[in-house]
Amino acid sequence: MKIKRLILCLLWLLAALAWQPAALAQAAAAAPAASEPARSLPPLTQYSAKGADSCLECHDDETVAYSAGAIFKTKHGHQGDKRSPFGAKGLQCEACHGPGAQHSAKGSKKKLSINSFKAGSYLSVEVRNQACLGCHEGGTRTGWHAGAHERNAVACTDCHRIHQPQGDPVMTRTTEAAVCLTCHKNQTAAFQMPSSHPVRQGLMSCSGCHSPHGSTAPAMLVKATLNQTCYSCHAEKRGPVLWEHQPVTEDCALCHAPHGSVRPALLSSSPPLLCQQCHSRAGHPSVARTSKSLPGGSSGGAIFTIAGSCTNCHVQVHGSNHPSGSKLMR
Ligand code: HEC
Ligand code: HEC
Ligand code: HEC
Ligand code: HEC
Ligand code: HEC
Ligand code: HEC
Ligand code: HEC
Ligand code: HEC
Ligand code: HEC
Ligand code: HEC
Repeated sequence: MKIKRLILCLLWLLAALAWQPAALAQAAAAAPAASEPARSLPPLTQYSAKGADSCLECHDDETVAYSAGAIFKTKHGHQGDKRSPFGAKGLQCEACHGPGAQHSAKGSKKKLSINSFKAGSYLSVEVRNQACLGCHEGGTRTGWHAGAHERNAVACTDCHRIHQPQGDPVMTRTTEAAVCLTCHKNQTAAFQMPSSHPVRQGLMSCSGCHSPHGSTAPAMLVKATLNQTCYSCHAEKRGPVLWEHQPVTEDCALCHAPHGSVRPALLSSSPPLLCQQCHSRAGHPSVARTSKSLPGGSSGGAIFTIAGSCTNCHVQVHGSNHPSGSKLMR
């Protein structure tokens, strides 16, 4: 009994290996330069005789998360696009699910007979992803193998929904973050803070800053460095300015928490402490800082602790373009 099962498993494993190059072959035919040449392996398992028609005989299922027919409303169902599964000579359903003749023929017990893309599948994440990468290796996926998602065995289909009648939620700016936050629960709180990037409001999404498919940048940022990522929207902070403030050109995150903060303007701590991490707390030109300078004290020095504190005077904290702005005061 056990041996029979083992042989069955091995057969399906071989089957899985056999259909991958088939998907690759279609991709290669569509974009000869992009993919590796088609390899011909002896068919260990057969494609179904009538393509999608044989599948649809049984699969007219309609649930909230899945509808076989919904695929025809998406780009994957585009018959005029020869790169698509349903384009001319496309493998249709089996371009993703793998050869399904055996699965179609048998009446039941189909768990092991087809790529379900499900977490509990008998196929490894790598093999399941290969079904998609066969057509989608290029573009923003060039960084896939360098990213933390690939390293941590995240599947394409952990984020993407292919059969959803309403479309793929991760592809829409207003619904993307909810998909990310199912795994990145620690980030949820930051975006609820009084000062945060307007992700919750749907004005931007995680992928404004992160490349979900991976990149060689730290934290899979969309640009090579943290600052370049910020400049892509806050171009006015790029400079060049006459009088630079060194930490600004170095790393915005020296002062800002990129996701959110309880302090205004996403600051990671409040002035004067923020500034005093780097600038000596001992004395300051012409103003003695004693207890008198605390709010309510007799000296005008409270300007060092109230409101914007240091930025009451050093207003151009990101750098100044004024000829006499060397102290970032104008
Ligand atoms: C004779 C009917 C029949 C045909 C034809 C058929 N299937 Fe299925 N399929 C089933 C049944 C029944 C199940 C549910 C099996 C289960 O839940 O264990 C299923 C399950 C599946 C699953 C989910 C597997 C899982 O592990 O949850 C996928 C994906 C699938 N079929 C794709 C296809 C594709 C693609 C084709 C065409 C090549 C196809 N089916 C043809 C009957 C069929
Ligand atoms: C572009 C790749 C792709 C194509 C083409 C495709 N599917 Fe799927 N299919 C998936 C993915 C991914 C899932 C996992 C659930 C999801 O993403 O919606 C899935 C899930 C399924 C399931 C299991 C649903 C469940 O929840 O149990 C069935 C059945 C199925 N597909 C049948 C089909 C049939 C029939 C066709 C052809 C008409 C087809 N698929 C074409 C990628 C594809
Ligand atoms: C046979 C080739 C093929 C396979 C296999 C394939 N795709 Fe696609 N996919 C395409 C084509 C062609 C498009 C349309 C591209 C375009 O319009 O630029 C597309 C578009 C997409 C899009 C963008 C949809 C949109 O609305 O803009 C996503 C996301 C996607 N595919 C994910 C996947 C995932 C995930 C898988 C694996 C489950 C997969 N694809 C398998 C060919 C394929
Ligand atoms: C962490 C979530 C996540 C994972 C994992 C993921 N994607 Fe995406 N994908 C997205 C988001 C978000 C977008 C839309 C924003 C964008 O274009 O970067 C997208 C867009 C796409 C597109 C359409 C736009 C384009 O770049 O061509 C395709 C095709 C695609 N993904 C394929 C894949 C494939 C193939 C895999 C697996 C190797 C994969 N994705 C894994 C989140 C993900
Ligand atoms: C299926 C779960 C899952 C989903 C969904 C998911 N991630 Fe991840 N992500 C992970 C895992 C696992 C890691 C690696 C461990 C870690 O850093 O937490 C990771 C790491 C990251 C990192 C850190 C990369 C690094 O180099 O430090 C970023 C940034 C990230 N994900 C962004 C996103 C974005 C944006 C989305 C939505 C488009 C998303 N993730 C969706 C599981 C997921
Ligand atoms: C305004 C740009 C921006 C947005 C929007 C953004 N991030 Fe980030 N994220 C960053 C930066 C920058 C870092 C690196 C922080 C560092 O190294 O100091 C980071 C780091 C991360 C990390 C690595 C762990 C950590 O906290 O350092 C994860 C995971 C992550 N982000 C997930 C997300 C998710 C999920 C979303 C959407 C809900 C999101 N990010 C939106 C800029 C952003
Ligand atoms: C995809 C575009 C985008 C990127 C990239 C981006 N931001 Fe923003 N940022 C915004 C938007 C939109 C706002 C909200 C503007 C508003 O409310 O008027 C904002 C607001 C801010 C604010 C002010 C928040 C407040 O409460 O006043 C700070 C500080 C900030 N961003 C810093 C950063 C830093 C640091 C980075 C790089 C890690 C960055 N941003 C990357 C779009 C972006
Ligand atoms: C030395 C600390 C420091 C660094 C480094 C820094 N900022 Fe700021 N930033 C501040 C302070 C303090 C404020 C609060 C506004 C004020 O009081 O002028 C602020 C406010 C902002 C604002 C909202 C108000 C405005 O001026 O538009 C944005 C956007 C912003 N910073 C972006 C950036 C970006 C992008 C970088 C990196 C290029 C950066 N900051 C680096 C201290 C810093
Ligand atoms: C991460 C360290 C760091 C932080 C935080 C920081 N600075 Fe600076 N700041 C520097 C460095 C480095 C210089 C350049 C010093 C030099 O050229 O001698 C500088 C220069 C200055 C100058 C010009 C000094 C001169 O002699 O020309 C002023 C004014 C200044 N910072 C104010 C502030 C204020 C106000 C804050 C808080 C909002 C702040 N800095 C936060 C590192 C920092
Ligand atoms: C009441 C206005 C005022 C406030 C508030 C203020 N400064 Fe200044 N700051 C000045 C003046 C005036 C100078 C000297 C300018 C000059 O020499 O041209 C100066 C110079 C500096 C310098 C250059 C030091 C040097 O030796 O040349 C630094 C650094 C600096 N301030 C940091 C800070 C920090 C940090 C805070 C908050 C704790 C702060 N300032 C608050 C007015 C102020």
